[in-house]
Amino acid sequence: MIVAVVNQKGGCGKSTIATNLAAMFASEGTVAAADWLVIPVKPSKVDLDATAQFLDVVQSDMAKRDDLSGGLLLNQLQEGTAIGAAAREQLKGWDFPVFKNVLHSYVAFSEAAWQGQSVIEYQPKSKAASDMEVFFKELKRAMK
Ligand SMILES: Nc1ncnc2c1ncn2[C@@H]1O[C@H](COP(=O)(O)OP(=O)(O)OP(=O)(O)O)[C@@H](O)[C@H]1O
Ligand SMILES: [Mg+2]
Repeated sequence: MIVAVVNQKGGCGKSTIATNLAAMFASEGTVAAADWLVIPVKPSKVDLDATAQFLDVVQSDMAKRDDLSGGLLLNQLQEGTAIGAAAREQLKGWDFPVFKNVLHSYVAFSEAAWQGQSVIEYQPKSKAASDMEVFFKELKRAMK
């Protein structure tokens, strides 16, 4: 089983999410059948536009492989902002799965990276850790 965190767009959170997921999978030894793409996208116009283009590539890959699945993960969301709500709406309009849970913007994500830790190791009770745990559960459910 391979989970890849991918997007052509720079700075959307690939490394942050990949390192956190790697730590979580390592602590559990999860086994799943399909390969999975987690596609982080930040709620901004440039990011949405770049991701829409990237999805064309992804969708043609997925059409060729029935053991490849994927979903869009809204990252660095600031709750209560108009742009966050607009981004969520726009993603729903695309013909591509969107993870129900999102990752909010928390400084703990960059602080943990600074320490070379996952957010769960760095601050297990933080909102960032809770976001990762909830998303991780959703990802594992989707992978079954
Ligand atoms: N949910 C989040 N909340 C706060 N900061 C975040 C979050 N996700 C990522 N960041 C920060 O945003 C920056 C970019 O994230 P990251 O390096 O993971 O993106 P990337 O997609 O790997 O970038 P690149 O394309 O340059 O490799 C980093 O400083 C990271 O700490
Ligand atoms: Mg990176």
